[in-house]
Amino acid sequence: MSLLDAARKVRENAYVPYSRFKVGAAIRTPSGAVHVGCNVENAAYPEGTCAEAGAIAAMVAAGETEITEVCVIADSPTPVSPCGGCRQKLAEFAKKDVPVRLTTTDGAEWMTTVGDLLPGAFDSEQMERA
Ligand code: THU
Repeated sequence: MSLLDAARKVRENAYVPYSRFKVGAAIRTPSGAVHVGCNVENAAYPEGTCAEAGAIAAMVAAGETEITEVCVIADSPTPVSPCGGCRQKLAEFAKKDVPVRLTTTDGAEWMTTVGDLLPGAFDSEQMERA
């Protein structure tokens, strides 16, 4: 199954009683494995989690910590834009040149990279003197 198909499929499971906005994310790792996630909302709104965060958690739970490819899909008017927190989460596990395919359910796409999504990202090297 393609990364896009995996993201499209997991999106159907999104738990979104508050926003009604379903998001699906799929990430590939160097082993070729694909990990998926959907957004999971909560009555205490800030406790909700994004699709990207879910996919990253599934990857780490499976014992992997490197992302080589990302795809996100939503029923949005323009390709769904990951929130700032998810850009930082992706940057933790992906090199700057990792491709990110942002899509809509009706086929629009924005191809970008993890580095372009978060220029000047804070990373662990900045704590070297600590
Ligand atoms: N959301 C994601 O899961 N990923 C994104 O890239 C954008 C936003 C979710 C969070 C919340 O459940 C809903 O979309 C509306 O913000």
